[in-house]
Order: sequence, then structure tokens, then C-alpha cells
Amino acid sequence: MTASTTRKGIWGMGGFGGLDGRVVAVTGAGRGLGLATVRVLLERHARVIAHHRSPSPELFRLLDTYADLLHLVPGDVGEESTAVAIAETATGVGGLDVLVHNAAITRDQPLVRMPVEAWDEVMRVNLRGAFLVTKHALRGMIRRRYGRLIYVSSLSAVIGSTGQGNYAASKAGLHGLSQSVAQEYARFNVRSVVLAPGLLDTGLGAALPVEIQHRKADHALLGRGSGESVAATIAFLASPDADDINATVVHVDGGVAY
Ligand SMILES: NC(=O)c1ccc[n+]([C@@H]2O[C@H](COP(=O)([O-])OP(=O)(O)OC[C@H]3O[C@@H](n4cnc5c(N)ncnc54)[C@H](OP(=O)(O)O)[C@@H]3O)[C@@H](O)[C@H]2O)c1
Repeated sequence: MTASTTRKGIWGMGGFGGLDGRVVAVTGAGRGLGLATVRVLLERHARVIAHHRSPSPELFRLLDTYADLLHLVPGDVGEESTAVAIAETATGVGGLDVLVHNAAITRDQPLVRMPVEAWDEVMRVNLRGAFLVTKHALRGMIRRRYGRLIYVSSLSAVIGSTGQGNYAASKAGLHGLSQSVAQEYARFNVRSVVLAPGLLDTGLGAALPVEIQHRKADHALLGRGSGESVAATIAFLASPDADDINATVVHVDGGVAY
């Protein structure tokens, strides 16, 4: 590579804009932010592999409208067979361009009272799940010399969150994973970013005790965020227009002040 060579010159992936023809997999897509993301991606003509654990009537309704673009993969994201199924489905429709790891859980407790099971289960879904889907997504991306990984983290990973030590630690783990992946696979034209939303109007945010929701919202300069709006940011990060964004954390919290 010479100093005068541009990144687009090397990679040659810019220029076609939008999401037409892109293959994007989203984990935890049955509801909440994952479902909103699938909807935006489909509206922008991406080919979407929507992974879900529980049956999701909303996903099945989308399948009626977007039968040619939407592919469903059921399974527990903490199991390797699910990661394999996502990767194989992507290969079957042309190869995975973008992986969005969104599936997550909380098991909130003050740390001294937190059962070991609550720690382990959160790590299993949020972090082990990320490792597994990444590992199997990367194989095809390396082969095809193109890939984008987007990890949905949280503001909690950056500033901590009372009662959510397990969740915050699991999300912070995604930051280390993403940076390492970016370094290991840049030479294969693979990029990796973390997306860190603040409090949202979707499932995990709405499940917090009301006083904690108010406290978090009070510090958010623009108030509580919407799943729809964060989904649009994910769609941007999944597009070729974001090809120069790599090895970083994109904060989508509207700004916070303490
Ligand atoms: N909501 C917020 O305020 C907020 C703030 C910052 C970051 N985030 C992040 O945004 C993402 C989405 O959150 P959300 O609010 O949309 O949460 P949500 O509505 O609870 O959705 C979580 C999704 O993860 C899936 N999931 C959970 N355990 C799974 C497992 N073992 N295997 C496969 N899928 C599993 C759920 O599937 P089931 O339907 O089967 O349970 C669900 O579809 C998460 O990564 C979260 O950490 C959210």
C-alpha cells in the first residue's frame, strides 16, 4: 500500500450506495431494536437473515411482505449450532456482508446479591453469543474479502450501571472483541464497530424499574432514545457509506450530562 492509495481504491466497495443486494444478519430480531432494524433494512432492500429465539408474529408478518428478501433462523444465540445456521443461511443467499449482534438479556441485581447463574447467563448470551456468531460469520467474510461487524452495546459499558454489573461487563467485553476483530481482519477488508445506545423505548429499557428509567432519562440531553432511530443508525453502519468507520464506538445516546 502506498501513501497515495485511497482506501476506496484498495477496497473498491464504495459507490453503489444504499443496501440493495447486501446480505445482513441480525441476532435477536424477534422484537425490540432487532425487529426495528430488520424492518429498516428490508425497507432499504437489503437481504436480511433475521435470527430469533422465540416465535415472533411480527417477523412472520414481515415474511408475508418480503418473502424474497427475508430469511428466518431460529435458535439460542449461546449455542454454536445457531451461529453455524446463520452463517450457512447467509452463504446460501450469496454470502454475509454484515453481521449485527443485537441479542442480549439482563439479569439485574446488586453485585453482592447476584447469583452466579445470573452472571453466567448474561455472559453466555451477550458475550459468548457474540463470539460464536462472529467466529462463524468471519469465515465467509475472509473468503469473500468483505465484511462488517456491528455489535450492539450500551452506554452502560462505558459509564457503568447500578445493579447491572453483569450486563455492563458483558457489553464492555464487546468493545474488546470488536477492537480485536478489527485489528485481526482489516487485511481481509473486514471492519468492526460497536454501537452504544443510551436508554431506549424498547424491551430492555422498558423493563428497568421506573425510577431508574427516570434517572437515566434525566441525564440524557435529548431524553430517551427510540428503537426506530437507532435502527436507522445501524442501517447506515451496514451500508457502504459507512465503509470508513472502523475500530470505534459509535455513541447513539443523544448526548449525556452528569
Ligand atoms: N432498550 C434499551 O434501553 C437499550 C439500551 C442500550 C442498549 N440496548 C441494547 O439493544 C439491544 C436490543 O435491546 P432491546 O431493548 O430491543 O431488548 P429486547 O426487546 O429485550 O430484545 C432482546 C432480543 O434478544 C433476544 N434474545 C435474548 N436471549 C436470547 C438467546 N439466548 N438467544 C437468542 N436470542 C435471545 C430476545 O429474544 P426473545 O424474544 O426470545 O426473548 C429479543 O429478541 C440489546 O443488545 C441491548 O443490550 C438496549
